[in-house]
Amino acid sequence: MTRGWTKSDWRAKPRVQMPDYPDAQALVQVEAQLAKYPPLVFAGEVRELKRRLGAAARGEAFLLQGGDCAESFAEFNADSIRDTFKVLLQMAVVLTFGAKLPVVKVGRMAGQFAKPRSAATETLGGQELPSYRGDIINGFDFTPDARIPDPNRMLQAYTQAAASLNLLRAFSKGGFADIHRVHSWTLGFAGGENAERYRALSDRISDALDFMTAAGVNGGTFAAMSEVDFYTSHEALLLEYEEALCRIDSTTGLPVAGSGHMIWIGDRTRQPDGAHVEFARGVQNPVGLKCGPSLEADDLRRLIGRLNPDNEDGRLTLIARFGAGKAGDHLPRLIRAVRDEGANVLWVCDPMHGNTIKSASGYKTRPFELVLREVREFFAIHNAEGTIPGGVHFEMTGKDVTECTGGVRAITDEDLSDRYHTACDPRLNASQSLELAFLVAEELSGRRARMAAAI
Ligand code: PEP
Ligand code: CO
Repeated sequence: MTRGWTKSDWRAKPRVQMPDYPDAQALVQVEAQLAKYPPLVFAGEVRELKRRLGAAARGEAFLLQGGDCAESFAEFNADSIRDTFKVLLQMAVVLTFGAKLPVVKVGRMAGQFAKPRSAATETLGGQELPSYRGDIINGFDFTPDARIPDPNRMLQAYTQAAASLNLLRAFSKGGFADIHRVHSWTLGFAGGENAERYRALSDRISDALDFMTAAGVNGGTFAAMSEVDFYTSHEALLLEYEEALCRIDSTTGLPVAGSGHMIWIGDRTRQPDGAHVEFARGVQNPVGLKCGPSLEADDLRRLIGRLNPDNEDGRLTLIARFGAGKAGDHLPRLIRAVRDEGANVLWVCDPMHGNTIKSASGYKTRPFELVLREVREFFAIHNAEGTIPGGVHFEMTGKDVTECTGGVRAITDEDLSDRYHTACDPRLNASQSLELAFLVAEELSGRRARMAAAI
């Protein structure tokens, strides 16, 4: 796959959505510094994740991928990492229980800092400034100074990613994620119907665990009961950062992106001959590809050829993000293109990015019913095509935010201003995330039942 490829080849290709650093000297220094730092992930973990995503593509596991739209320097603290992790654990329990499938847990965390933007500038009160592109590139404050791309931000992002990953590893392996603690992952503020459903489900799990203990099976001795494997992912947008953290895996001799376990290519940077595809094609990590309404079947075929020429299991995840009501116009034609190629891919639904609207109160929001509707459409289309819906990808937080309207706690347009904290796109809160998990679990168990009936 990587014969003749070098980690800086992307520099000769057309690039979009990347900053022009005014201080070229400072950029070179930062790149040299980062290149000396240890990678954040180990190549063996990356290979293991790829194996599990291969299982998800065959319908033997399910991918749960979620986290912030954009991680920020200001919101960096242990509580937000813990709470996001808690919600992901709760969702994983709901899915494992409902779908009776292993859930592959991947955070949009510990590296999700760089953002593509639909416009190069933003205008506020008559002043026009360069757009905010994520904390790894420039500052959120609406001032000319903050918006200048500063390469030193890459060092801060690296440090934050390393500390986040350290805490996530501790939570995953140190007892916090032990299934016996299933009740303790709920969040204080999360009342309502979804929290009740979760409580009822955890009671059943606790009962089963008590039964096992009484019967002499000590669940605590199984790693599968007392710890989880948790992986990180982000959009590989800022290629100077990605290149500086690219390493050679000593086991295989192949290049690996050391910035996170899985990387993905955004809907705006997926040009088959562009810089982002060029970088991603050379590293052995699992790669995600966002598929929006403008993706032509021919381009998808070329992208598959470039990103997964050996048709390796678990290498390529196609993340469908069309918008509710639009999946039917696009997903079937892309599924057929994949099938014609005989390509091995994992299909995942991102029900967030095709459903962003501006609310009457002026906030960027996502109506939760559209999010749920796109998930249902995704499942229905795969069921009709005889292909496998293998995962979900979404933006969420463990904080009690009011960023997406709807859900059982019925957030309205007027409520958006209460707790609207995102640095970029609107996220699901804990209650909405659980509701999404229950819906996906129902879809998956319905699918199981239909498949069993068909045998
Ligand atoms: C994102 O995942 O935050 C994003 C920008 O997605 P997309 O490339 O699909 O628009
Ligand atoms: Co987003």
